[in-house]
Amino acid sequence: MGSFKPFNMPMRRSRLTKRPLRAIGRGGLYLLLKLLHALGGSVLYMRARTWSLRRSGVVFEGPPGFIDPSAVFDTSRKIVLGSGTVVARDTYLLTHDYSITPAADYVGQLGEMDLNITGEIHIGKNCFLGLRSIVLPGSEIGDGVIVGAASVVRGKIPSGVVVFGNPATVYERTESWVMRKLTSPSSHQHLSQCKPKTTRTRFLRGSREMI
Ligand SMILES: CC(C)(COP(=O)(O)OP(=O)(O)OC[C@H]1O[C@@H](n2cnc3c(N)ncnc32)[C@H](O)[C@@H]1OP(=O)(O)O)[C@@H](O)C(=O)NCCC(=O)NCCS
Repeated sequence: MGSFKPFNMPMRRSRLTKRPLRAIGRGGLYLLLKLLHALGGSVLYMRARTWSLRRSGVVFEGPPGFIDPSAVFDTSRKIVLGSGTVVARDTYLLTHDYSITPAADYVGQLGEMDLNITGEIHIGKNCFLGLRSIVLPGSEIGDGVIVGAASVVRGKIPSGVVVFGNPATVYERTESWVMRKLTSPSSHQHLSQCKPKTTRTRFLRGSREMI
C-alpha cells in the first residue's frame, strides 16, 4: 500500500504538457500519428508529424509533400528535407552506423570506448523515397530524385534522376521518366488521378505557417 498514489493524475498531466513525446513514448506517438492519419487526413496528420520531427532535430526547408507514419528518421545527426518531398512507408533515414564497434573489437582495435560512424543526410525538394528504401549516413540527394522501392542510397545522388537498387544507381533522368509515364505508360501499368491537388495545397499552406 505504501507505494500506491491515488492522486498522481496532476503529476502525469504536467509531464504530458512539459515533455509530451517522452510521456507518450515512441509506440504511443506512432499510434497517435496513425490515428490522426486515419481520422484527420493529410492536413492534421502532417502538422503533427512535422511538429514531432522538428522537435527531434529534422530540418524542413519547406513544407514536405508527405511522410508516412512508419518512416524512421534516425536523428543522431542532422537530417534536412526539402519542400514537397515524399517519404513512403517503412523508409529508413539512417545517420549513424555502429558496425565499427564489433568490427574494431574483432580486429583488436577497440579501445575503452565504443565507436560510431555518423553522417548528416540532406534530401532536396520534390524527391520521392520509395517504399522500404534506406538512406545511409552521409548521403546527399539532389532535387527531384525518385528513389525506387527497396533501394539502398549512399553517397551523392545528383538532382533530376530516378535511381534504384542496392546500391542505388541512376536509371533515367526524372524529366524523361515523367514524360514517358505521361505520354506512354507501360502496358502493365495504369496512370490515374488519385486526389485533388487542392488537398495538398491546403496542407502546404497550413504547414508553411508552422515551419
Ligand atoms: C523506380 C521506379 C519509379 C521505376 O518505375 P518504372 O520506370 O515504371 O519501372 P519499370 O517497372 O518499367 O521497370 C524498369 C526496370 O527497372 C527495374 N526496377 C524498377 N524498379 C525497381 C526497384 N525498385 N528495384 C530494382 N529494380 C527495379 C525493373 O525490374 C525493370 O528492369 P528490366 O528492364 O531489367 O526488366 C518504380 O519501379 C518504383 O520503385 N517506384 C516506387 C514505388 C513505391 O515505392 N511506392 C510506394 C507507395 S506510393
